[in-house]
Amino acid sequence: MPSFIELRHVTKTYRTLQDEDLLALQDVSFDIGKGEFVSIVGTSGCGKTTLLKIVAGLIPHSGGEVLIGGSSVEGPRRDIGFVFQQPVLLPWRTVLENTLLPIEVMGLPLEQYRERAHEILDMVGLTDFADRYPFELSGGMQQRVSITRALVFEPDVLLMDEPFGALDAMTREAMNLELLRIWSKSGKTVLFVTHSISEAIFLSDRVVALTPRPGRLADTVEVDLPRPRRLDLMQTEAFGKLAKRIRSLLGIKEELGGIE
Ligand SMILES: Nc1ncnc2c1ncn2[C@@H]1O[C@H](COP(=O)(O)OP(=O)(O)OP(=O)(O)O)[C@@H](O)[C@H]1O
Ligand SMILES: [Mg+2]
Repeated sequence: MPSFIELRHVTKTYRTLQDEDLLALQDVSFDIGKGEFVSIVGTSGCGKTTLLKIVAGLIPHSGGEVLIGGSSVEGPRRDIGFVFQQPVLLPWRTVLENTLLPIEVMGLPLEQYRERAHEILDMVGLTDFADRYPFELSGGMQQRVSITRALVFEPDVLLMDEPFGALDAMTREAMNLELLRIWSKSGKTVLFVTHSISEAIFLSDRVVALTPRPGRLADTVEVDLPRPRRLDLMQTEAFGKLAKRIRSLLGIKEELGGIE
């Protein structure tokens, strides 16, 4: 598969308030193909959010290069949708108005995108809630709105930073299935951050494992499990083998039971 997003020797050093250098990422290189679903896993503080923000052009890197579609990322890009861990919705705007927010911010013609917004709301099962306000929605529904907001302007790339971290296990599984459905319909390139090894395997074509800080590439693991995927896939031996491999890459001891 030809590369679409390319990370070449990406390094990030933060300057702390104490004026010290903190090496967060070191020499990270990997590629993502167009339409591919790739997850990043690693322990807390290993640089996952940092990596995602660098790819989005939200923060500068200190060394190396990120290319999207062959051009270097130098600042925030319009062709990227970003879903944050918490659904940051504006409480005084309805679901539809929240979905259309990026269109307004970018100064695009609202009328042209209204139909598109309804289509995506339909895709995530929120048609009946278009005129409701965020406080009238459950946490999972709010998170779905933040996904519609990231999709409405048709970005080629979707970056998701632990988007389901705050949800209960059942809602999270439902959201995983929904995300796969949306992804298979829309053909976006997705880079997904999670601390859940099973979530990463279930969703992805490939899982990128980072070492503890400073985040370096431990390895990338190909997930050669058939699609469409169902939740009972997680009970299979092949799934278990992949989870074991990733746990060992992250240095998680089997006898501890590991993280989910
Ligand atoms: N603005 C900043 N200034 C200084 N250090 C920072 C800044 N942002 C992050 N860091 C440091 O960089 C390292 C990586 O942080 P990052 O948020 O990327 O980790 P993460 O893998 O996303 O962790 P988590 O799983 O807990 O979300 C951490 O040691 C953190 O303290
Ligand atoms: Mg993070």
